[in-house]
Amino acid sequence: MKAKISIDKSKKIGEIDRRIYGSFIEHLGRAVYNGIYEPSHENADECGFRRDVLELISELNVPIVRYPGGNFVSGYNWEDGIGPKSERPRKLELAWLSVETNEVGIDEFQEWAKLAETDVMMAVNLGTRGPDDARNLIEYCNSDTNTYYANLRRKNGFDKPFGFKLWCLGNEMDGDWQICHKTAEEYGRIATETAKVLKWVDPSIELVACGSSDPNMPTYGEWEKTVLDHTYDYVDYLSLHCYYGNKAQDTKNFLARAEDMDNFIKKTAKICDEIKLKKNSNKTINLSFDEWNVWYRTKDEEKTAERWQIAPHLLEEKYNFEDALLVGCMLMTLQNNCDRVKIACLAQLVNVIAPIMTENGGKAWKQTIFYPYMYASVYGNGSALSSKNESESYKSSEGWDIPYLYSSVIDSSNGELTIFAVNRSLNEDMELDVDICGFGDCTLIEHTELYYDDLNATNDKENERIKPVKRDIADNVILKKHSWNMLKYKY
Ligand code: AHR
Repeated sequence: MKAKISIDKSKKIGEIDRRIYGSFIEHLGRAVYNGIYEPSHENADECGFRRDVLELISELNVPIVRYPGGNFVSGYNWEDGIGPKSERPRKLELAWLSVETNEVGIDEFQEWAKLAETDVMMAVNLGTRGPDDARNLIEYCNSDTNTYYANLRRKNGFDKPFGFKLWCLGNEMDGDWQICHKTAEEYGRIATETAKVLKWVDPSIELVACGSSDPNMPTYGEWEKTVLDHTYDYVDYLSLHCYYGNKAQDTKNFLARAEDMDNFIKKTAKICDEIKLKKNSNKTINLSFDEWNVWYRTKDEEKTAERWQIAPHLLEEKYNFEDALLVGCMLMTLQNNCDRVKIACLAQLVNVIAPIMTENGGKAWKQTIFYPYMYASVYGNGSALSSKNESESYKSSEGWDIPYLYSSVIDSSNGELTIFAVNRSLNEDMELDVDICGFGDCTLIEHTELYYDDLNATNDKENERIKPVKRDIADNVILKKHSWNMLKYKY
């Protein structure tokens, strides 16, 4: 099959905000305990953080990590996780029906974030709690004043404020699974009042209001409008969440979910702009896609798992090769929407629906989805350009025309142009004609490929069989059937 990509320097979509390569750590399963933190592990540092896990995270170059949830945050009392560890309470955790030991809290997490060279995207509890606890929390984290909570932080050994710049106003408040789920009106009100107190304590922060937890929620659209009606003047971003799966074992349709994500983003941006017009506002609300990934095999696991365990094996999705292809495509969708999506979090980072897996007391390894995420985060920086793609297509279950070629183009302004491309054909290689205009002489200097014949193959602790290879540079660019590729040009 032949395809063509035409790139023009003048067709800029926008500058990529590095925060679209963010991730997420929730107090859920083995994400924190026996994930990033395992004091008894031979690779643990003096604080109990696994160095081997930190090393893998550093390869990913993660700019922000959302914390501490997720559904968890809607029942969380942040004060339980500060001060002397021996005095911290063990509690029933109702989002995932586990026991929370509170051995790790904000104090430890911000220390870990420094080691991981990432910023914290902090979420406040708008389920069981509200503005009062949120204002105390931000005083504890960000205040330099001689006042109770700032002094409590000092007493706990942290003289300098943590300085968290990005805050989420709750999590998935539209879902009835949420602890203290709310109607759009109820959430709109509490989010507004919480936003006000948070910004009064620290006017330099940015805030994310909850949009829908999935584009298929019956309230999608109306939820966004009502929430923005209340919060528009007080927040900076609206969140989107979405997880995709291939329960039907229909890979072509599964790979078309990248277009679904694209529609979700464009529709949500339109809703934000409708409210902007209605309010006659000069301010644009941008988007925070702060939970996205493939997730279907381990959905609802907490409902059947043994209750009240500490760090149970929950949501440990084993990612196969086709998952890596879709994750690669979804990253391209985020890049191609960088004019509106300023933040995004691959959910999650370690063990729980994650690119990194660990064994208690044992190894840490890279799942298949690690690679497209790593390459996007490391090489997908600069301006995203729109391209004209000519490729054969197929039909998705919705009847959409899905081109076999899916791509994004990044001009990193340092003399390098990077194309990320997936050939979604399951049986034909693609000969790609690359036409680049406005960059002078361009030379292909690298072709990295992620390919595996068996779409269902996975990596495991014994064998990381799925990993990228550098292909020889040839006159024609061949994108193998069902492969992910990165083409780097020097100009
Ligand atoms: O990431 C796992 C869960 O998915 C999060 O806790 C929740 O926000 C979403 O439903």
